[in-house]
Amino acid sequence: MTKLSTEGLTRRFLGLVAVNDVSFSMAEGEILGIIGPNGAGKTTFINLVSGIVMPSAGRIEYKGKDITYAPAHERARMGIARTYQLIHPLENLTLIENVMVGSIFARGNGLKEARRKAEALCAELGLSGLDRDTTRLTILEIKKMEIARALATSPRSSSWTRSWPASTPTRPRTSSRPSRRSPWSGGSRWASWST
Ligand SMILES: Nc1ncnc2c1ncn2[C@@H]1O[C@H](COP(=O)(O)OP(=O)(O)OP(=O)(O)O)[C@@H](O)[C@H]1O
Ligand SMILES: [Mg+2]
Repeated sequence: MTKLSTEGLTRRFLGLVAVNDVSFSMAEGEILGIIGPNGAGKTTFINLVSGIVMPSAGRIEYKGKDITYAPAHERARMGIARTYQLIHPLENLTLIENVMVGSIFARGNGLKEARRKAEALCAELGLSGLDRDTTRLTILEIKKMEIARALATSPRSSSWTRSWPASTPTRPRTSSRPSRRSPWSGGSRWASWST
């Protein structure tokens, strides 16, 4: 069954066409990658699907509903989660509190349940020192924390973009990606990577 689809999705920035007439569909449980050179439009596409950027033309459907112009917070509550290419930690919160935000905001969980869920996700992603301030985390730990925060929303579709800048000479290939054995398996996911 198709979960997420776009039809003719287009986004222009003045004269520049960043995403051009993209029609795509994704089924329940499917894992897809978007690969392209720098500037190809991968992040803009993910921004369009998650509601950070609105399209110039085209349509987006999620679970049979037109979400083309739905605000980002509504999409998050419907089950669409994403992480960012550049890190976005909530700097006044600790590691565990950053993750708890996902389920408190998107699922309305209380503090106790949010902490339990956040601890399980952090353990799964290999994060420890959960009461550390975000200024004491490495970039890799912050990327993992942001994946955990997205997963704490109990998404049915999630996306994460590459964790290392294109200029990094040796890029780890797998260490920040959740394994398929993880407790959140079952939803649809896509990832974007630069070549
Ligand atoms: N807010 C914006 N305003 C103007 N131009 C933009 C904006 N966002 C993206 N662009 C342009 O749209 C094009 C696609 O950018 P995008 O960031 O989606 O590419 P990308 O495939 O994610 O690249 P990278 O591999 O470098 O992350 C680029 O030419 C970029 O400069
Ligand atoms: Mg990008």
